[in-house]
Amino acid sequence: MTADPAPRAVAASLLPGRALPGAAYTGADLFAWEMEMLWNRAWTPLDRGGARHRAHWLGRAWSTTADLPAPATWFGNLGELLSGYDLPALTPVETRCDEVAANWKLIMENYLECYHCATTHPELSQVQRTRGGEDFVATGNWLGGVLELRNTARTMSLDGSGPDWSFPGLAEDAVRQVRYHAALPGLFVTAMPDYVVVHRLEPLTAAATRVVCTWLFHPDLLAACDPGYAVDFWGTTNAQDYAACESVQRGVSNRRYVPGPLGTEESALQRFLEEIGAAYAGTAVARRPAPARAAA
Ligand SMILES: [Fe+2]
Repeated sequence: MTADPAPRAVAASLLPGRALPGAAYTGADLFAWEMEMLWNRAWTPLDRGGARHRAHWLGRAWSTTADLPAPATWFGNLGELLSGYDLPALTPVETRCDEVAANWKLIMENYLECYHCATTHPELSQVQRTRGGEDFVATGNWLGGVLELRNTARTMSLDGSGPDWSFPGLAEDAVRQVRYHAALPGLFVTAMPDYVVVHRLEPLTAAATRVVCTWLFHPDLLAACDPGYAVDFWGTTNAQDYAACESVQRGVSNRRYVPGPLGTEESALQRFLEEIGAAYAGTAVARRPAPARAAA
């Protein structure tokens, strides 16, 4: 890792148990370093040019400029945990592309916690519990967790209604859960009992990120119902999240911004920030080693 002054300057101002300083979200030099060190040297769902390796995994294309283990190994147990959703078999029913005036890390941070849900997402809060979730034990380069559907809701829709259908291969508890998976650094896979939504991040500048959201349905369900309930729900939720991230970007860009303490239920977010901080400091790569595969 190069002794680049931009990340080291941010690393020097990190405070334990607190959010990143404002410079982490605003500096052009730091952003360029992140693209080279955190994005080009990971498997991402983007081909940013100069990719040396490409792969197809979870039904989509991945690329990297580094010599890395295959995505199935790099992302540890992510593939196993998503296997019940049969991603390669799903059909995209809608894709929306939004340019969000926020640093890519703020969008990641927003995804990794639900403290903001009660105030930011009135519709989501009616159909999914916003607290009391559990983090996954992630063994590869990803983070995530689970939140339960409320008793009155069948799935993530604006009124909680949904089809009498769920992915056939799901574990019993997954039928009543919303499962959030962030494949670092650039892909979110949100898995409902009956459909999947994928957000792909594409950092543009330190203060702007393109987000491509795709709704995925199983062909069997698509033959029986209109996916509009899912498109409407996440269209609403995305707009709320993007506005919240843009508001935070304005806050961290203020010279008077002081990083606040992290909450007790923000463990996945804290892990992400620790990895970013370690990468800035050059004390560790922002990656966990892939585990040795257990015998089946
Ligand atoms: Fe949100």
